[in-house]
Amino acid sequence: MSRVAVLKGGRSLERQISLKSGARVQDALERLGHDVVGIDVGHDLVGRLREAAPEVAFVALHGRDGEDGTVQELLEAAGIPYTGSGVSACIRCADKVLAKHHMRDAGIPTPDFFAFNETAFKELGAADALPAIQERLGFPVVVKPSNQGSALGMKMARGPEEVPGALVAAFSYGDKVLLERHVDGRDLAVSILDRAEGGRPLVLPVVEATPHEDDRYEARYEIGRTEFVCPAALTDELTQRAQDLALQVWELLGCAGFGRIDLMLDRFDDELYVLEANAIPGLTDTSLFPQAADAAGIGFDELIGRVVELAL
Ligand SMILES: Nc1ncnc2c1ncn2[C@@H]1O[C@H](COP(=O)(O)OP(=O)(O)O)[C@@H](O)[C@H]1O
Ligand SMILES: [Mg+2]
Repeated sequence: MSRVAVLKGGRSLERQISLKSGARVQDALERLGHDVVGIDVGHDLVGRLREAAPEVAFVALHGRDGEDGTVQELLEAAGIPYTGSGVSACIRCADKVLAKHHMRDAGIPTPDFFAFNETAFKELGAADALPAIQERLGFPVVVKPSNQGSALGMKMARGPEEVPGALVAAFSYGDKVLLERHVDGRDLAVSILDRAEGGRPLVLPVVEATPHEDDRYEARYEIGRTEFVCPAALTDELTQRAQDLALQVWELLGCAGFGRIDLMLDRFDDELYVLEANAIPGLTDTSLFPQAADAAGIGFDELIGRVVELAL
């Protein structure tokens, strides 16, 4: 058994989800017999790590700092092994625009997009390019900050008059904003778990999220607003394609340990498009990753135990 520090909370907008993930992870590790210390991540992180002297850190943080490579960099500096992806994969996953460029360059289907930082609008007149962008992407167009999760700051603009407001909203969450083609279809997530013995990672059953029709993704993280089906009702061929595609993205971005790839299945032509990769997917009792593991016969405690072993 090991001494494990569970890093949770932090100052990101996903703090509350992280506290829930962290508490659940702590309980599981205690049941497994580990010596567990929980750390709410803040300015004293380095000192608290030194004091706790863990053999391994379980990073149960989402969003800024915890999922973008910052905390991982601090753990590298402290010489403490940690769960999940390394610094560079975290950086690639946390920045949706960067991840989408990697995918597009590698020929992996991701919805067509344009992305700008605020300076482009303030100093380079990017607003003048909006008609051409809208012409290419069509309506509705999805506007989202490059570096947020949990659908924060994301809006669907139904016509040109809604684009400026959506951009302002997205820029209030981050400096880089993405205008993306809307895929009318089904929301799929593929979770991946590395194997201790090495080799091809375990690709877990596909989860489908079905948000309630009226309010789509703005409400998808509210309990009861979204239903999850796992395994998703897909043909074997589509399941295989979704899993293969997710694994390709996992390898392309250099992920490790565990992670979740979000995709859309176009309802008109059955094409799959990758939206993003999550280096640290939610681990709460309503989160998708634990549901997928459960469908594969891996209970929560076993899942958490495996993720820690991988880090060691
Ligand atoms: N281009 C798109 N077309 C259709 N739906 C989208 C699109 N982008 C995002 N969504 C919806 O919003 C949800 C969240 O988007 P995503 O890009 O995964 O960001 P995050 O999960 O980090 O907030 C998706 O699961 C999907 O339901
Ligand atoms: Mg997502």
